[in-house]
Amino acid sequence: MSSFCAYYHEQTKYTPEGIARSARQLEWDQQPRPYKEFTTGQKLDLKPYLAEPESTGLHRLSRLLYLTYGVTAVVPYPNQPFYMRSAPSAGGLYPAEIYLVSRGGPALPAGIYNYQVLSHSLLHWEQPVWSGLQQACFDHPALTGDLALVVTAVFARSAWRYADRAYRRICLDTGHLLGNLELAASLTGFTLQVCGGFQDEPLGHLLDLNPSEEAPLCVAALGQMRIPGPTALSSPVAQDFPTVGAGQLLAYLHRASQITVRTPPTPAAPRQDKYNFPFCLKVSTLTPPLVWQDRLAETMTHRRSTRQYTGEDLTLTELKQLLHFTYQPQDYPFDPDPDYFDLTLLETFVAVMGVMGLEEGCYYYAPAVQELRQVRFKNFRAEVHYLCLGQDLGRDAGAVVFHTADLTAAVARYGERAYRYLHLDAGHLGQRLNLGAVRLGLGVSGIAGFFDDQVNEVLGIPRAEAVLYITTLGRPVS
Ligand SMILES: Cc1cc2nc3c(=O)[nH]c(=O)nc-3n(C[C@H](O)[C@H](O)[C@H](O)COP(=O)(O)O)c2cc1C
Repeated sequence: MSSFCAYYHEQTKYTPEGIARSARQLEWDQQPRPYKEFTTGQKLDLKPYLAEPESTGLHRLSRLLYLTYGVTAVVPYPNQPFYMRSAPSAGGLYPAEIYLVSRGGPALPAGIYNYQVLSHSLLHWEQPVWSGLQQACFDHPALTGDLALVVTAVFARSAWRYADRAYRRICLDTGHLLGNLELAASLTGFTLQVCGGFQDEPLGHLLDLNPSEEAPLCVAALGQMRIPGPTALSSPVAQDFPTVGAGQLLAYLHRASQITVRTPPTPAAPRQDKYNFPFCLKVSTLTPPLVWQDRLAETMTHRRSTRQYTGEDLTLTELKQLLHFTYQPQDYPFDPDPDYFDLTLLETFVAVMGVMGLEEGCYYYAPAVQELRQVRFKNFRAEVHYLCLGQDLGRDAGAVVFHTADLTAAVARYGERAYRYLHLDAGHLGQRLNLGAVRLGLGVSGIAGFFDDQVNEVLGIPRAEAVLYITTLGRPVS
């Protein structure tokens, strides 16, 4: 294997033969709690600032955090309630934590803050950490403001259920959170600049994280204007790595993708849509934008993953609008150029099983020219059901979106760090699909468990494309 992340990807694939072997009895009494509890820190209640419609200081921040990751529903289970959040999470395990770092501005005194999701409050430790943050981010020019978010992952929350493959889901979950953050920032008047290239250990140390449990995945500066410059830096590529056994792959990959020296990515050719087969069916997806009016915030707080589809068709207009909202942000009154790590590395395929006005089959979506290009003609309903590990969401969806990437090309640009960026970006796109679907009254759910290689074989997706994430779309059972 040419990189550790390619090895990790291979080792964590689900296969029809291995899935039964890897199925584990869940030890419910061992499940980590999805909240951090601290015995120190000063509490700053954000709830009063949520109710008031003012647009300054803590009001904006309170709204930003709530829309990004706040509790938006409670399921009253007998033992303890299950709190659902504005961002979806594989298995509802919520591995991400949000910290704020303040230089000391009008809204927040200097220091570190942890977002306490359950009480919608901040815990504050007064410390002069801003210069440490700047150093850890190689003095990224976006950190000239006075506020930044650091999103970290508590690995065991997801690994408890998904073992080594959890790293994929943790990054996808965090990407969903970033999708919310991007939109919440534009609703609250912040300019967001995401920074993926930082020194992992010093940053973790700054936040007082236990490195064997929790680590930063990205930094997002909140400011007034976006500063040009690379969002993502490169890490080395692990060479001659030892055989890493099951149970150690997640931690090894995270370590292998750390950055200690500022290394810009190797330059890339400009983005070009791929897979333009001469005689395939091509369908334009040009459409007027999805109409949001003032409904974005409400959509973000009402979003839920659909648990069951009726099996009825979507319309071609609905599919076009979903693709348009997801891939054409320049046409919407939010952030016209969201800060992804590197979208040139991601590709999109759509399995069409039930879309009125569109022939069934698997299509490549070309975002630059806004067109679907048919790769294979067939109704894949039964196959997609199987590929999604027999989940009925796969069988009853009208269309299923697959995000993929050429791992070798991604590693050539970003080293092992590419694996994080790809999954973060795929989750970010997934969140736009989620919100667009909810706005249209459609059902939507992510799926991160699938038979990796079989997706390529069955749907005709080129083998060089590693499948990262699936989003199912359909009509929800109400
Ligand atoms: C990365 C990711 C993977 C997911 N995978 C699945 C899945 O395989 N099957 C499923 O039914 N739901 C899946 N979901 C949906 C979660 O179960 C759902 O987000 C969680 O239960 C919280 O509910 P909510 O999204 O309604 O807030 C996934 C969500 C994410 C973000």
